Amino acid sequence: MTTFANPRQLPEPGTPLSIAPDRQLETVLPNLGCETDSVDVTDLDGIAHIGWLLNRSPEATNIHIPIEEFASTHLAILASTGSGKSYTASVLIEEMMCPGARASLLVFVPHGEYDTLAQMQGHETFKGEDGYEPDVVYYNPERLRVRISELEIGDVMAVLDNPSNRMQECLSTAWSSMQRQESRMWGIDELINEIKGIYGEDDASVGALEWRLRRSIERNDLLHPEDNIPLNDIVDPGQCTVLQMDTLDRRNQQLITTVLLRRMYRERLDAVRGRDSEIEHPIFALFEEGHRFAPASGEAPSLGIMRTITSEGRKFGFGLGIISQRPSKIDQDVLSQCGTQVSMQIQNPNDQDAIKKSIEAAGEDVLRELPGLTPGQAVVSGDAMNTPALIQVRGRRTQHGAGSLPVIEKWRDAYEQQQREPTHSEAADFGGGESTGVQSLD
Ligand SMILES: Nc1ncnc2c1ncn2[C@@H]1O[C@H](COP(=O)(O)OP(=O)(O)OP(=O)(O)O)[C@@H](O)[C@H]1O
Ligand SMILES: [Mg+2]
Repeated sequence: MTTFANPRQLPEPGTPLSIAPDRQLETVLPNLGCETDSVDVTDLDGIAHIGWLLNRSPEATNIHIPIEEFASTHLAILASTGSGKSYTASVLIEEMMCPGARASLLVFVPHGEYDTLAQMQGHETFKGEDGYEPDVVYYNPERLRVRISELEIGDVMAVLDNPSNRMQECLSTAWSSMQRQESRMWGIDELINEIKGIYGEDDASVGALEWRLRRSIERNDLLHPEDNIPLNDIVDPGQCTVLQMDTLDRRNQQLITTVLLRRMYRERLDAVRGRDSEIEHPIFALFEEGHRFAPASGEAPSLGIMRTITSEGRKFGFGLGIISQRPSKIDQDVLSQCGTQVSMQIQNPNDQDAIKKSIEAAGEDVLRELPGLTPGQAVVSGDAMNTPALIQVRGRRTQHGAGSLPVIEKWRDAYEQQQREPTHSEAADFGGGESTGVQSLD
């Protein structure tokens, strides 16, 4: 039987040392709860094959991390742009959607990068013997809705343009009074009636507040008096829902995230406390551009609920994954609660510093590796590992949909295309005559 211990001191001179066999490292490096190398880790349930040790031959020492560990005590994937964050996140999503895990996943995506995950449907690897197949559901911005009554007063203040103290006071009073009403289906007209009922029609601040409310809330397509995304549409075991937010502005991305997280957290709390709940199973939500939703600057309505979930979510089966190219811009409380970390190439000293401060397992030796990594190489550390390990992330089973555009090729193609098909204005300018190659600007 082999156990793993991080040596605290150098061995006595003369102690025989030997290189650990590949198989042994597979069992003892990740925190799989098995202490013997006679176990074949691939037989274990609920593990994610993330890649193999970089300092051994390719695929010789495969690293499988326990899904339960990172899905309950949260995950951070940190690296500069183009280093493989979305790729690694997709590898983990693939593992979580396999028949052995059948996760209930939500991916919050400010830029569309996860279109190819749909290939998991119908793919042999993801089929279970009992007929299981993952369901990949895309929610585009037109289908995203927030019911106005789900907003908290702080969210409303954040979307109004610089409300005066008097306006804030009027709004807070009327908002609390609306929240006490039995009906949850009310819009801006009802709210304004309430404000006028309390403060009268002639108050100058009331007029200005009405104008701001109509402009910021009533005209915002995301916010609706009645519609709300049905939670049972977006969370289900064996379902990966991708919330595509690319055409929403940053404020709306934060609002929808805030309200959805709050609703889901409430349901998980109810489920664990034995009350009626719409979400009876654990869930895991992954955030691209995590610094947008939990910013160190504190300027996002979603920060409060992100902090709550990262500190309390474990007890309620609600895990978060934060992906970011700017660790220094993520709230330290949120980042330091991410129990498992995948750190990839990072050169910016501020970002390295943020990793050092918030990640316990990130010793000097881990940090020293980060600048020199190439895309697809990562240091995995934290709860899912017994000791940090430098790995090569495995290839995806589905295609990767977020590579850089081949810029030169695109320019040359576009140029050729233009040569073949002159635009209308060119045809008109030169009247079909011989091109001089010089265009008149008037
Ligand atoms: N494990 C891997 N195996 C093979 N190629 C990889 C791997 N990881 C990353 N790559 C390559 O690196 C490219 C960039 O990866 P990815 O899109 O995940 O970067 P990113 O960190 O998400 O960047 P951004 O911050 O711009 O979103 C991919 O298109 C892919 O070609
Ligand atoms: Mg990416």
